[in-house]
Amino acid sequence: VTARVSLDDRVVIVTGAGNGIGRAHALSLAERGARVVVNDLGGAVDGSGSSGAAERVVAEIRAAGGTAVASTDSVATAEGGANLVRRAVDEYGRLDAVIHNAGILRDRTLAKMSDTDVTAVLDVHLAGAFHVLRPAWPHLVERGYGRIVLTSSSSGLFGNFGQANYGAAKTGLVGLMNVLALEGARHGILVNAIAPTAATRMTENLLGDLTDRFDPRHVAAVATFLASEQCQLNRHILTVGGGRVGRVFLGVTPGWYGGPEPATPDDIHAAVDEICRLDDFVVPDSGADEVTLIQRVLSGGTGPTAGGSSPAGPAA
Ligand code: NAI
Repeated sequence: VTARVSLDDRVVIVTGAGNGIGRAHALSLAERGARVVVNDLGGAVDGSGSSGAAERVVAEIRAAGGTAVASTDSVATAEGGANLVRRAVDEYGRLDAVIHNAGILRDRTLAKMSDTDVTAVLDVHLAGAFHVLRPAWPHLVERGYGRIVLTSSSSGLFGNFGQANYGAAKTGLVGLMNVLALEGARHGILVNAIAPTAATRMTENLLGDLTDRFDPRHVAAVATFLASEQCQLNRHILTVGGGRVGRVFLGVTPGWYGGPEPATPDDIHAAVDEICRLDDFVVPDSGADEVTLIQRVLSGGTGPTAGGSSPAGPAA
C-alpha cells in the first residue's frame, strides 16, 4: 500500500498557472492541501498583452475551499522572478516546491525567425526557470527540502518542425534539471521534468480526433506527485498525455572502440552503424558516470554495458 500523496501546508509556486496545464496543476495542488502561488501575467499564446488569468484561478481555488494567492509577475525577467518568490515567502513564510510551467510560442522556421522570436521564447521557458529558481533555491536549501518540476516538451526532446526556439528552450530545461538534481540532492531538493501533451489554447487544432481525451488534469496528477514529499524520483523526465504516463531518458549505446590510437574519419565512416545501433544502451546517472563508463572500456572492459550502477537497456 502506498501513502496518499499529500501537499498539506506546502507552499508551491506554479508559473503560468492562469490557463491550461498550469491552471490544472494549481487546482490539483490546492485540492491536495497546498498553499498555491498562482503566477501568470495573463498574456496571449505569443506572450503579448495581459489579463486577470491568475486572479481567476485563485478565485476558483478559494471557492473550492483551497488556499491560493495570485502573482502577475513575468518570469521573463530576473526582477519578475524575484518578486514572485518574495510574494510566496511574504504571504506564507516558506517555500516547498516550484513548478515552472509558464510558456509561449513563436513558431517559425529558422529561415524566418527573428531575434525577438528567439529571445522571447528562451526568456520565458529557459531563462524564466533561472529567474524563479535562483531566488527560490536559498529558501529550499535553508529548510533542507524542495521539489522542482520543469516543463519540457516532445518538441525539443524529439523535434518538431518550425519550433527551433521552443525546442531548444525545452531541452535546455533538461540540462538544467540534470545539473540541479545533482546540486540539490544533498539538500533534499529533487528536480524532475514533465513532457506534457494536453488540450489547451496552445494545442488548439493540433490533437485531432481524440482532443477531448487530452485533459490537462492527466498532466496535473503527474506534476502534483512530482511536487510532493511522496515523490523520491530525481532527474527523471515523465511524459504524460491523455492518461498515458511514461519515462523519457537519455541513453548511450555500447558503441565502437577503435583502440588507443586516434581513429581516422574513415574508421568512423566504416563504424557508423555500429556506433548508432540502438539494440543495447545504458542510462548514465551523471556526466561523470558516463566518463567512468568510457574509462571502463579503455581499460579493457567489454563496453559500457559491462556493469555499473546505471539501469541497463532492454538487451541486458
Ligand atoms: P497556455 O498558453 O494555456 O498556458 C501557458 C501560460 O503561461 C499562460 O497562461 C501564459 O499567460 C503564461 N505565461 C506566458 N508567459 C509568461 C510569463 N512571462 N510569466 C508568467 N506567465 C507566463 O499553454 P499550456 O498548453 O497550458 O502550456 C503549459 C506549459 O506546458 C508550457 O510550458 C508549454 O510549453 C508546455 N507544453 C504544453 C504542451 C501541450 O500539449 N499543451 C506540450 C508540451 C509542452
